[in-house]
Amino acid sequence: MEQHINITTASVSSIDTVDFDHLAFGSTFTDHMFVCDFKDGTWETPQIVPYAPMQISPAASVLHYGQAVFEGMKAFKDNNGGVWLFRPEQNAKRINKSAERLAIPTFPEELFLDGLKKLISLDKEWVKGGVGKSLYVRPFVFASEAGVQAAAASEYRFMIICAPVTSYYGGDVRVKIADHYSRAAQGGTGYAKAAGNYGGQFYPTQLAKAEGYQQIIWTDAATHEHIEEAGTMNLFFRIGDTLITAPTSDSILDGVTRKSILDLAAHLGIKTEVRALKVSELIEAEKSGTLLEIFGSGTAVVIQPIIGFGYKGTDYDLPLSENSYAEKLKNALVDIQYNNAEDPFGWRFKVCD
Ligand code: COI
Repeated sequence: MEQHINITTASVSSIDTVDFDHLAFGSTFTDHMFVCDFKDGTWETPQIVPYAPMQISPAASVLHYGQAVFEGMKAFKDNNGGVWLFRPEQNAKRINKSAERLAIPTFPEELFLDGLKKLISLDKEWVKGGVGKSLYVRPFVFASEAGVQAAAASEYRFMIICAPVTSYYGGDVRVKIADHYSRAAQGGTGYAKAAGNYGGQFYPTQLAKAEGYQQIIWTDAATHEHIEEAGTMNLFFRIGDTLITAPTSDSILDGVTRKSILDLAAHLGIKTEVRALKVSELIEAEKSGTLLEIFGSGTAVVIQPIIGFGYKGTDYDLPLSENSYAEKLKNALVDIQYNNAEDPFGWRFKVCD
């Protein structure tokens, strides 16, 4: 049965104060937000309310123990004004997988999708048309119970907020391959979109930025020999004509864009291999000239070419490749997302006209 959502609309919109051509990623938010509290073992009546700061107890468990998970997705406007999400049912499932790992109660998938639909429909003027423009949608759950005992909370808040965005990275992206710090270990929370997985990366990423890299390529925590992911992106490597990505695991996020790229590549006749890739193999491929491309994939970045990488003090530059797989795949993906092409996979999800 569809659950009723209480809606209170904003009396004034802030949309006219926004410069949609100059947006810092994820720092401007729409007029409304979705809120649903979990108390006494159940999710209460959900609400859509004007976007505003909210009160939280200084003892809220999330502030002390980091019990929080999130999702990232995008809404796109097509040439006829229709608004679409991309595979949101995947995010509905994944937030619950993440929640389970953090001992957070799961959220009903149907309500997740309905909440998205109602919230984005209400703020549809914030979804701007044109490839590259979209509405970044951020569902998240956190432990709201007041109390500092170190145990899973009994009260939570699920929310969805939305931010109009353009690109995630402003310029070229170079990465550093990790040989000391780790993002995730076997048996840990690396596969979950847990807030702490991101917070833990900020310090090593700051150090890498000071050396001229935008991101870190994380390697396995035990040996630092195998390539995992880049924290905000999964990774693809083109060696010769083959596109390689690491298999998902305990320590790698099961990216929606990643799995879509694997399907699109097969559809476009690009050979893929999902297998472990050693840093040593990557360096050898670079030296022999067979490493042609590296790119990251993710909701925020879509497909982000990487122009070079650093490893143990040596920098490696990638050739500028014409007819890159990154470009082919990005075009195919974006065409589906913006309703500019057939969607043979059934990935588009209509939000409103
Ligand atoms: C996304 O692509 O949605 C992500 O989760 C990356 C985010 C941390 C900006």
